[in-house]
Amino acid sequence: MEQEAQSFFDSAPPLRCRDDVVASVNRFLDIWKAASAIGQTRRIAIVTSGGTTVPLERRCVRVIDNFSSGSRGAASTEYFLASDYAVIFLHRRGSMQPFCRSLPDNPIQECLEPVDGSIRAREKWFDAVTRAVTGHHSAVLQKKLLKLEFTTLFEYLQILEIVGAAMKPVGRHAMFYFAAAVSDFYVPWNSMMEHKIQSDDGSMTMQLAPVPKMLGLLRKHWAPEAFCVSFKLETDVDILLKKARSSLCKYGMHAVVANELETRKNKVVVVTRKVEMVLEKGDCPDIELPLVNCLVARQTMYLQQQQA
Ligand code: PMT
Repeated sequence: MEQEAQSFFDSAPPLRCRDDVVASVNRFLDIWKAASAIGQTRRIAIVTSGGTTVPLERRCVRVIDNFSSGSRGAASTEYFLASDYAVIFLHRRGSMQPFCRSLPDNPIQECLEPVDGSIRAREKWFDAVTRAVTGHHSAVLQKKLLKLEFTTLFEYLQILEIVGAAMKPVGRHAMFYFAAAVSDFYVPWNSMMEHKIQSDDGSMTMQLAPVPKMLGLLRKHWAPEAFCVSFKLETDVDILLKKARSSLCKYGMHAVVANELETRKNKVVVVTRKVEMVLEKGDCPDIELPLVNCLVARQTMYLQQQQA
């Protein structure tokens, strides 16, 4: 598996913003280290969010995409921040953002209006706009939120490697929360067409390679002490828990969140080695509130085990 992952990285197109990503992750960690040095160790959640795309051509015109909106990751980020975590929000460009979930699709034109030569929020949207601006502003001001963007699978996995390896010193205080929908199959860069695929020849067949799973690498090499939570999404409820249990063992996760496509906004099952907890939205504003609370408590137990 490690060899497959290595050859994925070796053949991937170089990450254009690599230096910027490394610098911003290091700056974020420097703040964490400075706080830890004076006894104020904060936990860090790395929340992955949204779906990766798989390009079909090097000069890319077409991609394979998936349905993920990033709503789970954005909502969870808000709750981690509220639980006093610092958050690295690794998200799909253009996907749902923390504190913006109540805004309409086109917020600038729908929520704002010109009044006497300046711009104001329309009354109907005032609360949502205030929440979006102040929530984000406060997290950034307190240096608790770092946003990193990806679009393609190549970008996502390369940034994940950078962040993963950087989290080693954070040890058990790091939580990886893999809510992103990561492509399972891709076209390797070295076998990808340079130019736009032509339609003149009628039907076509394309060979996709399996994407190497990186969760094992993260557990074994990048950040072996971090608390790791992955997600399992299925459309067939009969196989969901079985698959979640299997990925718990296969990749050494501390918890796997099992969710079914149709009911994912109302119900999830947190699967751990010892217990399986069914969480429902109930009276909560959304399912991510009980979910994040549950995982924060599990990480507390994990930290206490170390101290015992
Ligand atoms: O964004 P929303 O619209 O709110 O939807 C949220 C969600 C349904 C996408 C989310 O709750 C969810 O289930 N995300 C994981 C979906 C998924 O890709 O499942 P999977 O079975 O393909 O992958 C299992 C886990 O392995 C995932 O945590 C994934 O991040 C990780 N993975 C997958 C492939 C890969 N090559 N490497 C990985 O690390």
